[in-house]
Amino acid sequence: MKIVMACDHGGFQLKEAVKEHLTKKGYDITDIGVYNTDSVDYPDYGKKAAEMVAGKEADKGIIICGTGIGISIAANKVKGIRCALCTNEYMAKMSRMHNDANMLAMGERVLGKGVATDIVDVWLSTEFEGGRHANRVNKLMEIEKTDKVEDK
Ligand code: RB5
Repeated sequence: MKIVMACDHGGFQLKEAVKEHLTKKGYDITDIGVYNTDSVDYPDYGKKAAEMVAGKEADKGIIICGTGIGISIAANKVKGIRCALCTNEYMAKMSRMHNDANMLAMGERVLGKGVATDIVDVWLSTEFEGGRHANRVNKLMEIEKTDKVEDK
């Protein structure tokens, strides 16, 4: 499985820890930055990672900022993305089983490394349930096509 990882300066340390954890487990990780704690803008990194998942250059994406909020909002604005911001294993499990999340967002300033790597492990090993949830996920994706809000 190919996984793209991205973060801003607020998520750099946790991104490095998660990357090391997943690399040891044999996952194929593409790290698109950042590579240090110099201040950057999280939308740039959330968007770039999301475009790689939407464009099938990666199977899944894991993105991290200070809270996980900003970078998850950025990713969810890219067509085809269902990015779940998770703070515990239950959310991680359900985001795969019910929402077929193709990206996971976390917050370095919210989670410890141990909790974060447990979240990642559960998220990567849980399959989508399909069935009634497939219909709901299809409805989610329809919103992208039927958005009626016009530019003012
Ligand atoms: C950066 O200071 C911080 O705003 C960012 O990492 C993130 O938490 C935004 O949602």
